[in-house]
Amino acid sequence: MKRPNGIVIAIDGPAGSGKSTVAKLVAKRLGYLYVDTGAMYRSVALKALRLGVDVYNEAMMSHLAQITDITLQQQSDGSVRVLVDGEDVTEAIRTPEVSEASSITSAHLGVREALTMKQKLLAEQGGVVMEGRDVQTVVAPDAEVKIFLTASLEERAKRRWIEMQQRGIEITYEQVLQDVLERDKRDSTRSVAPLRKAPDAVEIDTTNMTIDEVVDKIVELVRQKQSCEKE
Ligand code: DC
Repeated sequence: MKRPNGIVIAIDGPAGSGKSTVAKLVAKRLGYLYVDTGAMYRSVALKALRLGVDVYNEAMMSHLAQITDITLQQQSDGSVRVLVDGEDVTEAIRTPEVSEASSITSAHLGVREALTMKQKLLAEQGGVVMEGRDVQTVVAPDAEVKIFLTASLEERAKRRWIEMQQRGIEITYEQVLQDVLERDKRDSTRSVAPLRKAPDAVEIDTTNMTIDEVVDKIVELVRQKQSCEKE
């Protein structure tokens, strides 16, 4: 299938597998748009927390997802600002409270339908590196390149903990480990669009790899795909 702006690179995996860092860098190297689908679930969760909406209430949360305007604004340096109803929430969506609430939010079918629709429209245009949990299975099962990133639980918790320390969030490593464990369980056992590797995806275990090594490997797979498509 030909898309106007290029191919779709779908990168899925559990929390802390390195998806965001890697997807951002791959997008930069290719001059593609970086789409963080998790940021969309986080945006709806943040709005619910601020409005005092019960995140377990499926009907209310689905309605919220439908009426919320979420914009991912790519900057010239490759970074992305997240706007919710016009307000910049890039940092506000990264707190542990929002992480927890977004995991609950993302299990609601109505929320997923609303956000998946927005994501599918972006994928149709092509020229995107899209990152999340169900990009290769639900949002863009026809993506030209599918990557499933993994890493050991301890390594993923360590990465998350360091990231939070750098952002000045006070939390112990043990707490982060527990949070990651719970989120993994919820994200991969929910009934709608659970985290799953597509049969034709390439799995990369990043536990003992540097970020550059992972990015190089994915860019190489993209180049191979592009040269096959030209032939
Ligand atoms: O990748 P992240 O940690 O920013 O994602 C936040 C939450 O949203 C996470 O609990 C899983 C969920 N999510 C999802 O269900 N589907 C996606 N495509 C992306 C994220």
